[in-house]
Amino acid sequence: MDRGPDSPKPRARWGTRLGFVLAASGSAVGLGNIWKFPYITGEYGGGAFVLVYLGCILLIGLPLMYSELIIGRRGGKDVLGALRALTRHRGPGGRILSVLTGTLAVGSGFFILSYYSVVAGWAIHFLVVSLGITSRSPDGAEATFLALVGSSALSVLWHSVFMLLVIGVVARGVHEGIEFLCSRLMPALVGILLLLLVYVGLTGGLALSVEFLFRPDFSKLSGEAILEALGHAFFTLSLGMGAMVTYGSYLKRDTYVVRDGVTVAVLDTVIALLAGMVIFSVVFAAGMEPGAGPGLVFVTLPDLFLDMPGGTLFGVAFFFLLLFAAWSSGLSLLEVVVAYFVDEHGFSRTAASWLFGALIWGLGLGSAVSGDFMDFFDNLTTRYMLPLGGLIIAVIAGWLLRPADREAGFLSLGDAGTPLARAWTLIIRFVTPILVLVVLLAKMGILDRLGFLRTGG
Ligand code: TRP
Repeated sequence: MDRGPDSPKPRARWGTRLGFVLAASGSAVGLGNIWKFPYITGEYGGGAFVLVYLGCILLIGLPLMYSELIIGRRGGKDVLGALRALTRHRGPGGRILSVLTGTLAVGSGFFILSYYSVVAGWAIHFLVVSLGITSRSPDGAEATFLALVGSSALSVLWHSVFMLLVIGVVARGVHEGIEFLCSRLMPALVGILLLLLVYVGLTGGLALSVEFLFRPDFSKLSGEAILEALGHAFFTLSLGMGAMVTYGSYLKRDTYVVRDGVTVAVLDTVIALLAGMVIFSVVFAAGMEPGAGPGLVFVTLPDLFLDMPGGTLFGVAFFFLLLFAAWSSGLSLLEVVVAYFVDEHGFSRTAASWLFGALIWGLGLGSAVSGDFMDFFDNLTTRYMLPLGGLIIAVIAGWLLRPADREAGFLSLGDAGTPLARAWTLIIRFVTPILVLVVLLAKMGILDRLGFLRTGG
């Protein structure tokens, strides 16, 4: 953490606090918000699911967000290094746990980015189609989508383009690359989203959409929906694999992590809800059903765009939105891996970015040509690796850190800090780990076998 006199280079840092908030929200706001949140909300029936999801953000998301950021800021290194520095007083047990968690985290980044990039590549394809550069299939979006997924060459092409976009930025550095880009992408993303919202406000469907999202019908809520909401809270806030630890480690020694963490979580949630409002407005205005599943954004929407006044422009804006969101998230996935090899193994940033970026690209080829391959890595990471990582991070933050490290972020809050720190400690020690453990066991089908919850999927 402290640089010795002979250490070669000072560690990277964010330029400004706003720059950090934009980079961290860039990580959080991604395909999870604009592609996945709307379609799972559609599948699980709207309002009641949204309410459970908001509860999960509050009870799991926020406490873990703070934990990751404070571990990063106090540890001042990549995931593994930060955990090791902060659990040093626990002896060999702390070291072993740090190495296990760090390896799990870096592996998650590696795996997630490999398929995330393929889905992001689809967004590029649809952007190119919307721009009229490649022709769309005369048989509609479903045919366009099937032609894309069925064509290894196209999927590989866009996957490669996306990986180059990510590697190029991460190689430039934390401040010059990630912060620079996110400071531009995030305002653009919010701007596009607001424009789309104004459009659907003027053309109809918005009232139905708001009602669908915000009027809970608890009869539609299943155990499966609750599990999905819990799992998605992790993914959408980029938690469970040290992305926020890594980003937190580039903070100056100020103490704003509580407020900044809340800002990121609120932004992420608001953007997911706005995206849902826009998408369901289009769907309802056309008299369609909300439960289209994963094809909602890539199959249902592009067809509807064609029939809307100004729909081409709307489509272009929408796929720019999707691409910007995916790009700023991809950066954080690669950054976890790069930071690890820079901090722990002395790689240069450039070498680590290109070398591990290339390996991730290679693994992603599997997902580009095979849907089963993609599903395997998607399930492996979002069902098992992220919740497990989150569980261990919660236990480390709640039980193993020194109180001075643990509560450092609350100091800046003055008098309000103490009760908040107390509430956080209670939640991170008991509530978060127990909830995460339940999800983990349920997703593994273990509760199912014991007859507790009907989980399916
Ligand atoms: N949060 C991003 C999304 O919603 C995805 C993402 C980026 C992520 N970095 C992560 C997920 C780290 C888990 C962990 O699309």
